[in-house]
Amino acid sequence: MSLVIRNGTAFIGAKFVRKDILIDDGKISSIGVNLKGDEAIDATDYLVLPGLIDPHVHLREPGDVYKEDFATGSRAAIAGGFTTVMDMPNNAIPTITKARLEEKTRLAKEKAVCDVLFHFGGTDDNFEEVKKADPQSMKLYLGHTTGNLVLKDPASMEKHFRGFPKERQIVLHACDHSDVEEVNLEKTYATIEGAVASAKKINRRIHLAHASTGHEIALAKTYGRCTVEVAPHYLFLSTKDAERLGRLGKVYPPLKSEQKKLSLWKALPQADCIATDHAPHTIEDKEKGAAGFPGLETSLALMLQGYERGLLDMEWIIGRMSSNVADIFGLKGRGRLEKGGVGDITVLDPKEEWKVDGTELQTKCRWSPFEGMELKGKVHTVVKDGEPIYQEYEFK
Ligand code: DOR
Ligand code: ZN
Repeated sequence: MSLVIRNGTAFIGAKFVRKDILIDDGKISSIGVNLKGDEAIDATDYLVLPGLIDPHVHLREPGDVYKEDFATGSRAAIAGGFTTVMDMPNNAIPTITKARLEEKTRLAKEKAVCDVLFHFGGTDDNFEEVKKADPQSMKLYLGHTTGNLVLKDPASMEKHFRGFPKERQIVLHACDHSDVEEVNLEKTYATIEGAVASAKKINRRIHLAHASTGHEIALAKTYGRCTVEVAPHYLFLSTKDAERLGRLGKVYPPLKSEQKKLSLWKALPQADCIATDHAPHTIEDKEKGAAGFPGLETSLALMLQGYERGLLDMEWIIGRMSSNVADIFGLKGRGRLEKGGVGDITVLDPKEEWKVDGTELQTKCRWSPFEGMELKGKVHTVVKDGEPIYQEYEFK
């Protein structure tokens, strides 16, 4: 069965052009004009994007499925326009052995409606396990955060840097846990400098998670093989909002001052990609002090605010949520509308206005730090492997 997405404004070769996209057998088979398929989606008023890729989510399964699981988390991804997400290893039962990676892979296959890839956790003593599991990417926690996954031995980082194939990505969590904005910032900067120096020495690629100040981006960019991601909440929320939100406003790294938020906007053109750091917790857990925000369903519309306000080009935004992520993590056939690529497509209605209402979200935690915010731009349709699984702003 073939499907044509007709007459939309499609993101092809980093530009928007009016083209039809034909998908056959789950793959893009042709891009052109007046294409015919067994079924058609009319995208005349819409933007046609490669299925977006989020390199940083916490889907909580196994271990904390009362917060989120692969079914609800992947539905949140699709509703937000993401057809591939990369899950973090800091579960209650962390992903630090081959058996756990296999278990996660199996659970996600059974339950998820989008593709879920996994970052494997590095510890002070799982070097052999990394070799056995042979994961596509790793995550190293250089400071404490939710869960117990953290490197304690200062020699472990470089040992993982050397042991893991150099072309595969190692994601770094550089911030040390602190509820207060400024306290650990100097420490974070020193951690980034140390990681960059060590990666430089052996010429390996690294990726810095959730930069929340312009200076972190500047530090990352002192090394050509260090890429860096920014999460929308550091661009759209500050300590002012943290005060208003009370316990709901807690996140690691913590929200920053208005001034630092501006520094992040200023450095943003140098950032390589956008990541949600979707980290759902129930309201009850937030009241007990849990850190983290859900973000999959608000990320795209928030970034489009950057376009609405004249701060970012649409091409910049979409590239950093698709092709750039694919390049950083070596994901072939994803993140681009091109012949032979996977038939994962997000159709965006750029004019649809909506208001964030936590109770309407797909994420199990059903709240948002952006509650009540008026946004413009909504995912209209998502095609996964050639199948429209989400249409007219809803799951089929
Ligand atoms: O706020 C956070 N929540 N930051 C992290 O680094 C982890 C995440 C989580 O897993 O809850
Ligand atoms: Zn995270």
